[in-house]
Amino acid sequence: MKITAIIPAAGAGERFGEKKQLKLLNGRPLIFHTIQPFINSELINEIIVVVPKENVNQVGREFKSTLTSKKIEVISGGKTRQQSVNNGLKMSNKESELICIHDGVRPFLTVTLIEKVIKAAIGHDGAILATPSSDTIKRVLGNQILETLPREEIWRAQTPQVFLKSALEEAIEIAIDENLEGTDEASILEKIGYQIGFIEGSSLNIKITTKEDWIFAKAIYNELND
Ligand code: C5P
Repeated sequence: MKITAIIPAAGAGERFGEKKQLKLLNGRPLIFHTIQPFINSELINEIIVVVPKENVNQVGREFKSTLTSKKIEVISGGKTRQQSVNNGLKMSNKESELICIHDGVRPFLTVTLIEKVIKAAIGHDGAILATPSSDTIKRVLGNQILETLPREEIWRAQTPQVFLKSALEEAIEIAIDENLEGTDEASILEKIGYQIGFIEGSSLNIKITTKEDWIFAKAIYNELND
């Protein structure tokens, strides 16, 4: 079975203040750390990295120095994450049956987790990684609490998120038609009735969003590479 990895990394870094996907972590752009386990996993046939238009040439050149025979393509993203993923989807190999989407700003994924979530997706519409919430989650309006959600039912979605390519194509098409924008891909497949499973990810698989997250990223990197 052919599997394409799509790595959306075309964000402008507004909350962070710069493009964190290109910020150096131990001398290498973050995105290099992110794609390493996809290079290492034998289940992944091609990697499509989606970056801001103005960075396509530079990132493409830098990836040429990566020692791998695997096909790595660098393309430009869209205004939203969903558009960036769609750009990647359109470039994926015609023979790919599964699409594995992973945030460009989650650099501490492992081959084991990639392969675990792919195995969970096979035979279903899709599967994602998630971790149980250790915080109590409140639904709010303004600065008023509306309700407290039952913590045992709350899981935090991570990536990779792996889907049947045909299901993802259909979901994105419907999302475009109906003007829906999901904060992850699973949400748009769920909305149209696909059954998406999940398995437990890792709390080290953090998404770097804010400056504070960079402190955690450096600490995790140092601990893992001691
Ligand atoms: O929006 P969020 O913080 O969830 O972004 C998750 C990933 O989606 C990041 O790696 C970001 O670079 C990517 N993204 C993208 N294209 C956009 C916006 C975000 O590829 N237009």
